Amino acid sequence: EPNRLIDRFGREIKYLRISVTDRCDLRCVYCMSEDMQFVPRSQLLTLEELYRVGKTFVELGVNKIRITGGEPLTRRNILQLFHALGQLEGLDDFTLTTNATQLPRYAQELKAAGVNRINISLDTLQPERFRAITRTGELQNTLDGIDAALQAGFDRIKINAVILKHRNHDEVVDLVRFCQERGLDISFIEEMPLGVISEHDRAEAYYSSDQILGDLQQVYRMVPTTETTGGPSRYYRLGDSETRVGFISPHSHNFCDSCNRVRMTAEGRLLLCLGQEHSMDLRRVLRANPLDDAPLRAAIHASMKIKPKGHEFDLTSQPVLFRHMNATGG
Ligand code: GTP
Ligand code: 5AD
Ligand code: SF4
Repeated sequence: EPNRLIDRFGREIKYLRISVTDRCDLRCVYCMSEDMQFVPRSQLLTLEELYRVGKTFVELGVNKIRITGGEPLTRRNILQLFHALGQLEGLDDFTLTTNATQLPRYAQELKAAGVNRINISLDTLQPERFRAITRTGELQNTLDGIDAALQAGFDRIKINAVILKHRNHDEVVDLVRFCQERGLDISFIEEMPLGVISEHDRAEAYYSSDQILGDLQQVYRMVPTTETTGGPSRYYRLGDSETRVGFISPHSHNFCDSCNRVRMTAEGRLLLCLGQEHSMDLRRVLRANPLDDAPLRAAIHASMKIKPKGHEFDLTSQPVLFRHMNATGG
């Protein structure tokens, strides 16, 4: 098929991450700075434009879309976008990354719209720590959201835990137990240095996937698997159980060789790599051609020529990327 998206290194792009807002009801310390300035709403793609982008990528061979943010469910009328994208022929995996606070309201409707999997951010099971890490949040709201997701019956629910030394590194066993009891998967994530965050020292907070694995092996039999969800996680099974434990290790195990994805910011900037600035302005193309998707297809094709080989994160120096994770889409 001449239409497929293949980059200069022979990697086929089958996975699109769409950020629908940089706003969030939480302020996680690794994601945002304390005095975060948000993108003016007038700069955001409209829901119709977001749909055009998703539809066009699916025409170009993408079979997995993940909606990200910020917190996607804080965007007004966002369920309309889920309903529209959920109808697309050829979209096999339709997923969402969320902090779960709005799931008591939206979980059932998301499932009905065609979302088959959900990833939920949860770093700690201790209320005071949750407040400290999210700066503003209430643990109970996220726990209620997880219950709502379980009741809605998604195929799989995965917990994402960013592990920070001295903040939550001693909870990895508790988090795994929480997930095992509920039939959830979990991924442990090494923090990535996006954006300057003054009161948080990333080098000091670094806690590697290998350290976490070692901690878990004290308690559990960790069985390596070759399973994948098409993302960067390397998975283990917990003994003979169904629970999968993943590790996303941008520092200790680079996964760029098998990269299959690109991401778009809420302003319509197509980022070819999470850790690099190479990008294509799709908003300009969308607005110059309101009735014709051919130029959009051409721009997306052209972007394959500037997808970099990989990220080069360095925790020991100031971040080279000014944009924070909430403006990036994770
Ligand atoms: P599935 O595998 O589909 O479950 O999703 P995922 O783990 O790719 O997505 P999720 O939104 O849950 O992101 C989990 C973590 O993976 C976040 O911290 C992302 O920033 C990180 N991540 C996803 N893709 C990439 C990537 O291409 N490069 C890097 N460095 N990190 C990524
Ligand atoms: N490094 C790694 N992961 C991060 N996330 C947010 N900021 C960072 C960061 N700096 C995680 C969130 C969410 C996912 C999309 O990205 O916890 O689960
Ligand atoms: Fe919000 Fe997710 Fe960023 Fe936390 S990590 S501030 S929940 S977007």
